[in-house]
Amino acid sequence: MSEDKSTVLVTGGAGYIGSHAVLALQKAGYKVVVLDNLVYGHRELVEEVLKVELVVGDTSDRAFLDNLFATHNIAAVMHFAAYTYVGESVTDPGKYYHNNVVGTLTLLSAMVAANVKKFVFSSTCATYGIPEEIPLPETHSQKPINPYGMSKLMVEQILTDFDRAYELKSVRFRYFNAAGADPSGLLGEDHDPETHLIPLVLLTALGKRESIAIFGTDYPTPDGTCLRDYIHVTDLADAHVLGLEYLLKGGETNVFNLGNGNGFSVREVIDTVKKVTGKNFSVVECDRRPGDPPSLVGTSAKARQILGWYPQYTDLNEIIRHAWQWHQQRHG
Ligand code: UFG
Repeated sequence: MSEDKSTVLVTGGAGYIGSHAVLALQKAGYKVVVLDNLVYGHRELVEEVLKVELVVGDTSDRAFLDNLFATHNIAAVMHFAAYTYVGESVTDPGKYYHNNVVGTLTLLSAMVAANVKKFVFSSTCATYGIPEEIPLPETHSQKPINPYGMSKLMVEQILTDFDRAYELKSVRFRYFNAAGADPSGLLGEDHDPETHLIPLVLLTALGKRESIAIFGTDYPTPDGTCLRDYIHVTDLADAHVLGLEYLLKGGETNVFNLGNGNGFSVREVIDTVKKVTGKNFSVVECDRRPGDPPSLVGTSAKARQILGWYPQYTDLNEIIRHAWQWHQQRHG
C-alpha cells in the first residue's frame, strides 16, 4: 500500500457516532468517503452538513463493494455501520447477525481482495456481558448476553483470524455509553426510534414526551438505579483518528475500551438534565428493563497509554449541555 493514500472509507458515516468521526477526520486533514445504506442514517448530514461524498449501499453487497474499492483510493476503513438496538436484537437476531456479522465479513473480504488492510472497528462493552469486576479492563471475559453483543464479538474473532491469515490490521474500540453532541452544534444524536437515556430525558425536558421512566430502582447500586459510563461522542471520534494513525504507522491489531471510568446513575443523569436545562418534568419509576447489567464502567488506561487518548469532555454537565444544545436546535 502506498504511503500517500489518505482517503478513509467511513461506513455508517450518516449515523450518530460515524458522523462525528467524519468531522474529526476532516479536522485532521483526511479525505473521507461515507458508505451508508440510510436505513437509520441521515443523507442531509453527510451531503449538506459534512459535505463529503456519500455512497449509498449495503456492506453485504460484494459487487458494490468491489466497485467502490476499485474507484476510490482507500487507505483504511472505519466501520460504524451496524444495527444497535439491544432489545430488537433479542426479538430479531437474524437481522443483527446478517447486518452486523455477514455485512462486516463481506466488507472485510472485499478489503482483503482490494489490498486495503487497516480497519477501525466499533465494538462495544456489550461484548463483556455481566461484569465480574468494575471497572472493566479489556482482559475481562467476553460472554455477551444478547445477540447485539454477540454479533460484535463474532466480528472481533473474525478480525483476529483475518490478521493471522491475511495480515489485516485492526483496532477494535469497545465503547461504553456514547453521549453528548459536537460542541459547536453542527452534529448530534438523532435516532428513530430513540431508546437511549440522555436523549429521552432531553426530549422530556423539551415537552416532547410526558415523562421519563426509570427502568429499575432496586439494583445493588448506591441509589438503586443502573450506573453507566457516559463518554462524549467527540472524544470517541478523536479516539478513532488516533486509532487510525496508530494503524497507518504500522501498529499491530489491538483492542481498547473507550469510557470515562466514572459511573453515573439513571437518577443522576435525570437530575443533571434538570439542572442543565432548568426544566422540571415528571419521572416515573418502572420495572427493570430485561438484560440491563447494574453497572457498566470501564477502564481506558490502555487507550491513554498506547494511543495517547485523553477525553476532553469528562464532566457529565458538559456532555448533557452539548446534547441539550443540539436537541433544542433540532426539536425545540
Ligand atoms: N434507561 C431508563 N429509562 C429509559 C431509557 C434507559 O431508565 O427510558 C436506563 C437503562 O435501563 C440503562 C441506562 O438508562 O440502565 C442507560 O440506557 P441506554 O439505553 O441509554 O444505554 P445502554 O446502557 O442500555 O446501552 C449502551 C449502548 C449499547 C450497548 C449497551 C451495553 O447504547 O449500544 O450499552 O449494555 F450495547
